[in-house]
Amino acid sequence: MSELSLSRNPAHLRHGSNIGQPLTRRDGVLKVKGEARYAADNHPPQMLHAVMAVSSIARGRVSFLDVAAAKKHPGVVEVMTPANRPPLAEDPDAKTHPFMFRLELLQNDRVRYANQPIAVVIAETLEAATEGAALLSPRYDVEPARVGLDAGESFVPPTVGVGNPSEIKRGDIEAGLAAARKRIAATYETPAQYHNAMEPHAIVAAWDGDQLSIDTPSQGLAMAQGRIAGLFGISPKKIHIRSPFLGGGFGSKGLVSGPQILGILAARLAGRPVKLVLRREQMYGPVGHRAPTRQTLRIGVDSDGLLTALDHHAKTVSSSFDDFFEPAADASHTLYASPAISTSHEAVRVDTGTPLFMRAPGEATGSIALESAIDEAASACGMDPLAFRLKNYAEVEPISGKPFSSKALRECYAQAAMRFGWSRRPLAPRQMRDEAGLLVGWGMGTATFPALMFQAQARAVVRRDGTGVMETGAHDMGQGAWTALAQIAADGLGLDIEQVEFRSGTSDLPDAGIAGGSAHTATAGMAIHNAGAAVIAKLADLATGDERSPLYGAGNAGVVARQGRLFRRDDEARSENYADILGRAGLAEIDASGSGAADPAAQSTYAMHAHGAVFAEVKVDPDLGQIRVSRLVGAFAAGRVINPHLVRSQIYGGMIWGVSFALHERSIMDHRSGRFLNADLAEYHVPVNADVPDLEAIMIDEHDPHVNALGIKGVGEIGITGSAGAVANAVWHATGIRRPEPCACAKTDAVSQAMLRLRSMGCSCRRSGA
Ligand code: MOS
Repeated sequence: MSELSLSRNPAHLRHGSNIGQPLTRRDGVLKVKGEARYAADNHPPQMLHAVMAVSSIARGRVSFLDVAAAKKHPGVVEVMTPANRPPLAEDPDAKTHPFMFRLELLQNDRVRYANQPIAVVIAETLEAATEGAALLSPRYDVEPARVGLDAGESFVPPTVGVGNPSEIKRGDIEAGLAAARKRIAATYETPAQYHNAMEPHAIVAAWDGDQLSIDTPSQGLAMAQGRIAGLFGISPKKIHIRSPFLGGGFGSKGLVSGPQILGILAARLAGRPVKLVLRREQMYGPVGHRAPTRQTLRIGVDSDGLLTALDHHAKTVSSSFDDFFEPAADASHTLYASPAISTSHEAVRVDTGTPLFMRAPGEATGSIALESAIDEAASACGMDPLAFRLKNYAEVEPISGKPFSSKALRECYAQAAMRFGWSRRPLAPRQMRDEAGLLVGWGMGTATFPALMFQAQARAVVRRDGTGVMETGAHDMGQGAWTALAQIAADGLGLDIEQVEFRSGTSDLPDAGIAGGSAHTATAGMAIHNAGAAVIAKLADLATGDERSPLYGAGNAGVVARQGRLFRRDDEARSENYADILGRAGLAEIDASGSGAADPAAQSTYAMHAHGAVFAEVKVDPDLGQIRVSRLVGAFAAGRVINPHLVRSQIYGGMIWGVSFALHERSIMDHRSGRFLNADLAEYHVPVNADVPDLEAIMIDEHDPHVNALGIKGVGEIGITGSAGAVANAVWHATGIRRPEPCACAKTDAVSQAMLRLRSMGCSCRRSGA
């Protein structure tokens, strides 16, 4: 794989002396040696093991559990069912804000989806608990499962995502389509996908009176603490959560899940510490997923190649008992200009666990449909898809009308297209073959993701010995927060990173917000930056007000902090180190706090997004229909890059997930039973090394002065959004087949029909004229 390319004025330009450095992960050695302690690695004395029994039906009631048989099993200590589950202070089906999701905590015998927890067996060993769970031999009153996008009557959800309007219309779509020279209408389906993080959801919970100590992975420590406090009716201060490392989260660990709460309940029931770890198939149900979608786009284009209408309608599902609606159509709000734009959603209720956030929720599903449809519109007009996009990119955000705070999208396209060699692409499909006779196709997709910020706090300390401390309860799910945030901390304190103790990953530290929405580095980073500035300001006050200091009287000129010293800004020959300043003041250390949040004034003025452009090459076997991605080149503008190593890794991860979205990942459900057919890593396919193409990620230098003082946008999710569409469009260019459209005769199944079309043959009914 190629190295991260850097433009002439690199976005990783040094800020202080730590930001911008390509440091390797500070926790890397621990991880490689197996010494990083993940939640399930904790074994407090007297710990018991809990194993969930989960439902094998998707809808109905549990009519019998052989609790006696399980309890008789050697090593089994207790069986928790609705009959003896300890009381909760809050109804698990209560919902008091949109970020709260209903949980299955053995509140009754009702089954709402396959793999729903129906009992928990607690034993001295994992084996005994597993065997005990098997002995429960549940019986059910089965009701028919509602499965799939056509399972029932659809309705318009009140909101999609978190509080977005379900329908947005600007201009007259029908008039725009009527006035168009070319029109396309296309429907795309995306399957349900599951997070499949390497580390399953796990918890080790220990009660000491009404104090609760927890080891569990969390993308949002303060929110988890608050949710647990509410359920158990105790103060959040009595709950101590440790989450130093997550083995992946991707949104599924953003909110504390039902199984994690069951672990805490099991510990309460047994009166001993309990460990509960989900088996891989148990992650298909109670911990969220990406909902399937069926998206219809209608696009009109005039004789100049300009859009006259863009209509994006998405159908999706939620569970029978809760509301999360994948905001897929919202992807059409931010990229292309059109006098008429309409986005709308509808949903049906099905018997699955509630869908939730999964890496780029909305943007990932929506952009693959939007970018495929834009490609179809370009080819309907006989235009090169790059030229078509460049003609139609919005110069202000189309729905809000706000200018972009910065937008290097055209630069992304220019650099990635050149690197990829796009100018050599034949316009028509099915024109290129490699030496082995495989069909070769080139396609492109646009990447976009909002530059979000949540709220965070940090506390900074400077010590007389010349070291510093930065505290914020941030979350490292593998993306490198321990390193990137420590780099921001070091610059904020004017110290080298080796002199800064970066404390993170526990709930007793200041709230670092959520590691989600690609907003963690910006939000926690700004809290750290501001805490650093606050402690340096205190130090400066001590020095500039003291006539024994070389900085005396520099108050108005200001000082800069660097290498453990304050320098007078207008005369750097005058400086003093932190130790002397604190020593003279008789202080061992000095501390201050800071917070990070979006600036409402800037947000109401500007549209804030990261952008990117991805080019894909695929090879398709014309006989077997096998598709492989051979090359992926992306360029991304995401503001300031704190650490180019970590950013490259994040972007690569997103790009690989784009390949996976387009070609590998889908969960398959038995429509008769509502059970999963591939709920494991053997049959739910994710790319392995052999599936990963030659990758290149170019970071475009982008200085965005409006997103936040550090200019950080975030890179966690944007990589997936361009790559999936680029692969889909490359498959069309290789084969001439956009979507397998089954022949109405239904004599041949969809896969066989797609294969026939690959070989430029129609369904047999057409060939025979039947
Ligand atoms: Mo991400 S789906 O915002 O954790």
